[in-house]
Amino acid sequence: MNSSQRPETGGALPPHPTLRRYYGRDADRPRFVRGLFDSAARDYDAIEGGMALGTGRWYRREALRRAGLAPGMRVLDVAIGTGLLAREAIRLTGDPLRVTGLDPSAGMLVEARRQLGVRGVLGVGEQLAVRTASVDFVSLGYALRHLSDLTVTFREFFRVLRPGGIVCVLELTKPSSRVGYAALRIYMRRIVPMLTRLRTRNAEAELLMRYFWDTIESCVPPARILAALDDAGFEDVRRALAIGLFSEYTGRKPGPSQVPVGPARREDRDNFFVRKMRR
Ligand SMILES: C[S@@+](CC[C@H](N)C(=O)[O-])C[C@H]1O[C@@H](n2cnc3c(N)ncnc32)[C@H](O)[C@@H]1O
Repeated sequence: MNSSQRPETGGALPPHPTLRRYYGRDADRPRFVRGLFDSAARDYDAIEGGMALGTGRWYRREALRRAGLAPGMRVLDVAIGTGLLAREAIRLTGDPLRVTGLDPSAGMLVEARRQLGVRGVLGVGEQLAVRTASVDFVSLGYALRHLSDLTVTFREFFRVLRPGGIVCVLELTKPSSRVGYAALRIYMRRIVPMLTRLRTRNAEAELLMRYFWDTIESCVPPARILAALDDAGFEDVRRALAIGLFSEYTGRKPGPSQVPVGPARREDRDNFFVRKMRR
């Protein structure tokens, strides 16, 4: 990307504008989001499995593998939720004690601890209660839209990684094709909230799904996210896109790698499922 194409960066970067129909001021957003996830925690896995948009275990595991997660690495999974991504990280590292999860929702964290036996830290991505240069891999699965500031959060990711460490952010991105976008919009706006309500009988879970789509629709474009990772200090920052919808942002902290098994980040060629995106 040349400098004229590069979006302006450096200042605060909220992932989306204020969504006033859900919360009045930006300052109220963290409490609103925490409340939503606390109330939906017990139903989250059912909702996720039902709408098939978290893409299931196989995709999460393959995305982590593509990013370079390998046995022996120490992982921090930010926004662990009920542990859907952390579960796959454990499979790849081979040890639950090597994976630490962090989340501001006590309800979600309780589920993750119960299901996986991982160490759980109550906290937010913007201010990690984790030692500097103490992990080899930081993951963030489907939670970028819930952060208050990507600039601050990516700097925190950079701080806690050891030299050579890897950041991997998985997130849904609006399809660029008009047909794909229109189809997803109908599915996410109309069908998913209705199915969620029927399946869970939980009004908060339905609200979560409505909020989910509104944050995807108003999320900053991939170029801003890549630029924020660059600005935080990461090198070799890239994005791959699976089935036109699932973005995988990765980068590496410069310096000699102390990663136990060596950086296994895969140089996948494009295939029908995943496309490396030009910046
Ligand atoms: C959609 S869930 C993702 C769970 C999991 N990573 C996965 O792959 O399914 C989003 C999670 O982000 C958490 N979250 C919200 N705001 C956050 C913040 N500021 N920092 C870290 N996590 C946050 C929520 O509590 C929730 O558990």
